Amino acid sequence: MRTDTGQVFHLEDYRPTDFIIDAVSLTFRLAPQATRVISQLTLRRRPGAASDAPLVLDGDGLNLVSLAIGDAPAEKQRYTATPEMLTVHDLPESETFTLTVETEIDPSANSQLMGLYRSSGVYCTQCEAEGFRRITYFLDRPDVLSVYTVRMEAETKDAPLLLSNGNPVESGDLGNGRHFAVWHDPHPKPSYLFALVAGDLGVVEDEFTTMTGKPVVLKIFVEHGKEARAAYAMDALKRSMRWDEEVFGREYDLDIFQIVAVSDFNMGAMENKGLNVFNDKYVLADPDTATDQDYANIEAIIAHEYFHNWTGNRITCRDWFQLCLKEGLTVYRDHEFSADQRSRPVKRIAEVRLLKAHQFPEDAGPLAHPPRPVTYSEINNFYTATVYEKGSEVVRMIRTILGADGFRKGMDLYFERHDGEAATIEDFIKAFEDANDADLSQFAIWYRQAGTPAVSVSLHHDANAARLTAEFEQSVPQTPGEPTKKLMHIPLRFALLDEDGSEAATDAVKGARIEGDVLHLTERRQSVVFEGVARRPVLSLNRGFSAPITLNFQQTSEDLAHIARHESDAFARWQGLNDFALRVLIEATRQADGNKPIACDPLLVTALVETAADDRLEPAFRAQALTLPSEADVAREIGNNIDPDAIHRARDMIAADIAKKGADVFRTIFEAMYDGRTFSPDADSAGRRALRSVALHHLSLAEGDPARAFQAFGKADNMTDLSGALSLLVHHFPETPAAREALEAFEKRFAADPLVIDKWLTVQATSPGPATLSRVKALMETRHFSLSNPNRVRALIGAFAAGNPTGFNRADGAGYVFLAEQVTALDGKNPQVAARLLTAMRSWRSLEPVRQAHASDALRSIAQKEPLSTDVRDIVKRTLG
Ligand code: TRP
Ligand code: ZN
Repeated sequence: MRTDTGQVFHLEDYRPTDFIIDAVSLTFRLAPQATRVISQLTLRRRPGAASDAPLVLDGDGLNLVSLAIGDAPAEKQRYTATPEMLTVHDLPESETFTLTVETEIDPSANSQLMGLYRSSGVYCTQCEAEGFRRITYFLDRPDVLSVYTVRMEAETKDAPLLLSNGNPVESGDLGNGRHFAVWHDPHPKPSYLFALVAGDLGVVEDEFTTMTGKPVVLKIFVEHGKEARAAYAMDALKRSMRWDEEVFGREYDLDIFQIVAVSDFNMGAMENKGLNVFNDKYVLADPDTATDQDYANIEAIIAHEYFHNWTGNRITCRDWFQLCLKEGLTVYRDHEFSADQRSRPVKRIAEVRLLKAHQFPEDAGPLAHPPRPVTYSEINNFYTATVYEKGSEVVRMIRTILGADGFRKGMDLYFERHDGEAATIEDFIKAFEDANDADLSQFAIWYRQAGTPAVSVSLHHDANAARLTAEFEQSVPQTPGEPTKKLMHIPLRFALLDEDGSEAATDAVKGARIEGDVLHLTERRQSVVFEGVARRPVLSLNRGFSAPITLNFQQTSEDLAHIARHESDAFARWQGLNDFALRVLIEATRQADGNKPIACDPLLVTALVETAADDRLEPAFRAQALTLPSEADVAREIGNNIDPDAIHRARDMIAADIAKKGADVFRTIFEAMYDGRTFSPDADSAGRRALRSVALHHLSLAEGDPARAFQAFGKADNMTDLSGALSLLVHHFPETPAAREALEAFEKRFAADPLVIDKWLTVQATSPGPATLSRVKALMETRHFSLSNPNRVRALIGAFAAGNPTGFNRADGAGYVFLAEQVTALDGKNPQVAARLLTAMRSWRSLEPVRQAHASDALRSIAQKEPLSTDVRDIVKRTLG
């Protein structure tokens, strides 16, 4: 474990390395506990670098076995080696030379899952961001691009499969039951994109022909016996490859593309050149074991990693401050892919829900940072919702501002200019400016400024003058380290709706640049005047969530319902309903004292039920419309002095009231959405299942009886229906025989399938109320749980801490004490996952005072522990502020 040294990295300190590594030749003599790594580097001094500058290579927990310069062993006085650094002096001034570094590592003891480790007997690597230095000493930073040749030697029986980046070159037998293989990657790449996999795995093979007619071999490797579960991932891969050609003009560039699924993985997946490594959760799917959400995630992540080949690999990042150059852009690309493959408005709704659930709270709390930060102490902690999701929103806004053609021109220029380079956010923006002759200097502040901008709006309609005046005011809340904020360029898509729902015409607009339906806010206050508007229209603002902001706009409930009913933009219809529902839930929370029943605003009930019953709308959209804002959504909107129990009670009462009043409609939908066909994971079928599931949920609440859900559980012929019914039973009818029986049946049926048992763990961990904590503790003691596997940790502890507002935020603080214990226990094994777990406490200051005090105590108890990893130290320090 890397323990905290207090070192802080600053963007402004960037300078190129003194040495260039043109080529890397790696030999791995693989053995479970003692793998030899021989790394031969072809180096030269960078032109202009000091002629006496030493070569300083990064290491992390390394053990140097030998070192040679050229053909000769290095004399002792020419180098110093510590586990963290190898410094070599007296190196040639200008000519190319080689350095041969031999290290020994223990993959079996690697519980951090960074560098070379073993997962279920398979050797695999994870090098982003700084894992390569746990394998060998290197200039382990993204602006050092080299051509890699990799030779692997291993027991043939243990590891019949030897894979690395690029194309296979050679393989053969070594005698003694060992064999070897050599791979060569012709594309210069940074060390974080290096990968090796060696083991015994099953494979699914296919082929893809690129737009210029080149054949590409496609292989997905999974545990033996699970090959059939890789079919959907393969299909998603082929669709991704075609889409990137059609929409971005990007062709694949090697003869082979491989994906390996492993069961121990810190994140979702990794885009290593030509050899993606995946968390098996994002590869394996069949109707019996995967939900529609799983299918959608697999499609999105397969696409994401594939798209990195151009946005990340061909053009990489100059330094880790630029992480969103590849991540934000690639998320944007995978969002667009999914929107094209499925329903665009439904996809947008899901994106916005996720953004608000994860990124908005991050941006409003102690861990707030801009998409392109200027300082960090642990880069692992910057793989955040802000870098990924807000980073994607910023790219989306560029497209909104420049239009589809201007955006494509900018992307083309970016690819043309920077292919084969390590680039910056400035390079990215400049490509759009140059390709469009545009000035994006104010817009670029989105990359450099943290905090969710707020826009206040007030409307005044003068019927006599036929004039509508909209007053806008923008502000950005303070965030850590950024006391003053700059004015931003906020592109707001909008519509003026007439009484009958058609878009109102205006003769002239003054006070803002308006292009199409985009209104550009660039000043602190802007008064926008629409002339020739005879009747008061309804303003629909931030259509499609064109800007990731919060709106302070006191629209009447009638206006919100009007938008929900009439907007031509389906996303805006959902937004109208959702804003309305949120308002009702906040009001109900304010009123919720004791258990005095609260009724839902009848106008909202009508709007929801009408939308649910509207056959002209696609089922997936209707399902989204019927899904009330979550308790976390309500908490975020209230913002301070949060009592999660009050929110829970209020939301329950509103949901029950809606369920009762719409019961007839929900019953009709529940029956109509049953199609009896064989399962298909396509978006339309998934949408029907989603709508049926929400209808079942409401209907069961209305009936106050688990019978219907229990019956649905028994009849389910796919995991979506099965797990949907299970969570309905466990969350709403806890401790009933039906809930207990369903849990038991589920466990029995899937006991041998950890990915499915994860769902069983999560359902229990997210069951509301104070009793869940002891259930979680008990589940940790079962054979289904292991602190060593990140998926298990996330499914149980992560789900409890981040997905159970009433259970985790118990008034007595026991939830926080528990999390602190788990974080410190896990820190010794896997700091990256421990730190991520701890971010569940980022909003502690918005809680009511008693819970706040408990949370503060728990955080301090972690801060006092010694030693702590840089990862957990960084999060706990910033969270305490
Ligand atoms: N680059 C990966 C992605 O977004 C993220 C990733 C995978 C990662 N594994 C990691 C980041 C380990 C840090 C550490 O596609
Ligand atoms: Zn990524």
